[in-house]
Amino acid sequence: MLRHKHIVLAVTGGIAAYKAASLVRLFVKEGAEVRVIMTKSAEDFVTAKTLGVLSKHEVVTGFFDAGDNWNNHVHLAEWADMIVVAPLTANTMAKFANGLCDNIVCACYLSARSVVFAAPAMDLDMYRHPTTIENIAKLEKQGTVIIPAERGELASGLSGEGRMAEPEHIVEFIKAHLSKGLPLSGKRVLVNAGPTYEAIDPVRFIGNRSSGKMGVALADAFAEAGAEVYLVLGPSNCSPLHKSVSVQHVESAQDMLEACTAHFSRVDIAVLSAAVADYKPKTVAGQKIKKKDSTLNLELIKTADVLKTLGETKKHQVLIGFALETENVEEYAREKLKSKNLDMIVANSATEAGTGFGVDTNRVTIIDKHNNLYKFELKTKQEIARDIVKATLDYMMHGEKNMNDPA
Ligand code: CTP
Repeated sequence: MLRHKHIVLAVTGGIAAYKAASLVRLFVKEGAEVRVIMTKSAEDFVTAKTLGVLSKHEVVTGFFDAGDNWNNHVHLAEWADMIVVAPLTANTMAKFANGLCDNIVCACYLSARSVVFAAPAMDLDMYRHPTTIENIAKLEKQGTVIIPAERGELASGLSGEGRMAEPEHIVEFIKAHLSKGLPLSGKRVLVNAGPTYEAIDPVRFIGNRSSGKMGVALADAFAEAGAEVYLVLGPSNCSPLHKSVSVQHVESAQDMLEACTAHFSRVDIAVLSAAVADYKPKTVAGQKIKKKDSTLNLELIKTADVLKTLGETKKHQVLIGFALETENVEEYAREKLKSKNLDMIVANSATEAGTGFGVDTNRVTIIDKHNNLYKFELKTKQEIARDIVKATLDYMMHGEKNMNDPA
């Protein structure tokens, strides 16, 4: 969920500032890009050097850097997918609540276009003070998401509420907040896409015309719906737009099989849209084959059927396949649905105008194993991907039910 996300971590001057180091490490571990900004008083508790090394970027501590160049808080705020203020002291909280702007953290806060998370940290009595309560309410009204302080031993020696949430809890809180309300949040989805290349010799291969567009659109649509998506992608020029999609590049049918089986036991849904080669050369020449003779015979052997293999080991997963046909589309699709032990199949024709490989549109029919059938008009592959997500959600919600059966 945080992979490739741009996070501005704003550190203000409280004892909990030392935990900012762990927070940076956790964000980086999640795959996020982190830029740290801090107030002058935060530097009394943690050094800019430490946070700079951990975030791999120079920390911004003022409006001007050492070379007297202006640090543009507007650019930082624009760059951010989220701003996380941790710890948020009572002083900075009061400044935020009243629009004060005398340091880089306040300037970024006022320039924020993204969601702002703030983790207050202060002593028990300060946390309970009516002004603090009022300021927290003000920040929430402005759209800032408050990560509640935790109970425990405080630096003052007192014990109670006011401790900054632990870095692990801050990360979990942010992830839960980002996925809230999305229908597939907490679900893992495997998608495969693109063609496969089966080597003939070191320079030649047998491939097909699949562009990978449909599968990449599917990966994006499932990610949009809140799922954690793993995309196993054959040789393709397409890449997902959604930053959270985790992409594994593969080349051959065998690579595709290994990558997909490795993910399968951990996912809730698997959608196999790749145009996997059905045959591959029996032997791969070690050196480039020279054109000695007027004919060349290649002996081909069957590749593993990735979808069928997953169908044989399927337990809790919803397994969705594609069927690309040139005739009897529905009939052949139903046969594949059954023989590969699928929950749902997306059938499409390779010969109809505006459909098939390379183009941006397609016309599909979705059939599930309870005989529900959804026919769609010619649409863009992105729209079809969203229809497939919707049909998957319907299938997961209605279980065994045949939606066409009035009983
Ligand atoms: N598939 C697969 N591994 C293969 C061949 C196909 O996983 N070696 C999957 C495709 O990703 C698709 C489904 O099986 O989801 C159907 O693919 P399709 O090419 O339509 O049919 P095939 O099973 O290959 O059968 P045929 O070529 O005889 O129509």
